[in-house]
Amino acid sequence: MNTSNDPARKTKFGAAGNDAKYSGDANGMSVQEQSKSTSSASDRPIIEIKNVSKIYGGGVKAVDNVNLTVSRGEFFALLGPSGCGKTTLLRMLAGFETPSAGEVIIDGVDMSTVAPNKRPVNMVFQSYAVFPHMSVEKNVGYGLRMDGRPRGEIKQRAEEALALVKLAGYGKRMPHELSGGQRQRVALARALIKRPSVLLLDEPLSALDATLREAMQLELVRLQATVGITFVIVTHDQSEALSMANRIAVMNAGKVEQVAAPAQLYENPSSRFVADFIGKINLIDGKAARIDADRVKFEAPNIGAFDLPGHVEGAASLAVRPEKIFVSETKPTDPDLIVVRGEVGEVAYYGSFSNVFFHIGSGAPILADIGNVSRDIAEFTFKKGEEYWLHWRKSDTLVLPA
Ligand SMILES: Nc1ncnc2c1ncn2[C@@H]1O[C@H](COP(=O)(O)OP(=O)(O)OP(=O)(O)O)[C@@H](O)[C@H]1O
Ligand SMILES: [Mg+2]
Repeated sequence: MNTSNDPARKTKFGAAGNDAKYSGDANGMSVQEQSKSTSSASDRPIIEIKNVSKIYGGGVKAVDNVNLTVSRGEFFALLGPSGCGKTTLLRMLAGFETPSAGEVIIDGVDMSTVAPNKRPVNMVFQSYAVFPHMSVEKNVGYGLRMDGRPRGEIKQRAEEALALVKLAGYGKRMPHELSGGQRQRVALARALIKRPSVLLLDEPLSALDATLREAMQLELVRLQATVGITFVIVTHDQSEALSMANRIAVMNAGKVEQVAAPAQLYENPSSRFVADFIGKINLIDGKAARIDADRVKFEAPNIGAFDLPGHVEGAASLAVRPEKIFVSETKPTDPDLIVVRGEVGEVAYYGSFSNVFFHIGSGAPILADIGNVSRDIAEFTFKKGEEYWLHWRKSDTLVLPA
């Protein structure tokens, strides 16, 4: 059994430095904060969204008093469930929708009277459309032809843009002669050729299969690092946002719930919604009472009462990520752990890890991610009905408002 599954075992600090992992070091600092400490104070955000709302005809409040800033060169993601207002916000940046209230400022200029084609932005649309009757080269050069640029310049810049997206030599092909991922890259090249300060990408990878999608995620990150353009990408895929972005804004029903660097968002979600939306999390319902400024007594019928870090009072949920939970046959005695007895229910095997649901009485089962870190199959096989001790660090626990 994987009692060897010590929390410190696989950190970059190794077993000896296990306290460093929990001490709120630079790991907890957002990319934003890190870059601030090295760059000059005169850096103005490239995008400022101030108190912006959008109410469509019929009274749909698609965007509700959003405030956001995006730094120059940042890879920024807007993440949220379908219909939460992501596309609407992006379209207001591009100038295809007018805010009902508030201000959009790009590179220090109020955009309220600036037409879409005069803005220093370019947008790749949710359903990325390449013109089917035009060659790749013609597709990519389209924007420059509309601007009346000389032919020689268009040809040269189209070649450059195609090289950037790794499609050098594909200029003469027609879109139907390309794979989905290649068409996607043509759409990107078409947006990049105008050298915008900001590239707006609305679900650019949603039409691709899982493998291509992962490859394109890496390519987008590489491309962004190469061209140094600010990217604002919309996605409803949380792993995509976590793996690609410097910072993520999580939206819910038109509002921004939280803005933070990926690791901050994952480890310090500010609400139940964010905790639940980003990754998997166990939420155990109970109630909290204040002990002092930073600690509460959390109590739930299934697991008992614990003194935990937190500020919530009244109805509350104890939140713990599945990978923070460890399993043993003997009961741990460390007072810094929360320990509960659980019975194995459903098990789902994923190769590198297994999802094991443990029943702990009447409440929702607790999900533990068990890393299959050895080839000994017996060591990582859980059978329905077996009982174990589940344990996790109190410091790996959050108490959130219910
Ligand atoms: N032109 C429109 N007229 C009226 N309502 C609209 C219009 N466009 C969008 N909406 C509504 O505004 C809300 C936000 O839509 P939006 O397209 O911004 O969502 P989204 O977050 O991009 O969703 P998805 O992930 O499904 O693309 C939805 O309730 C939608 O039905
Ligand atoms: Mg959308």
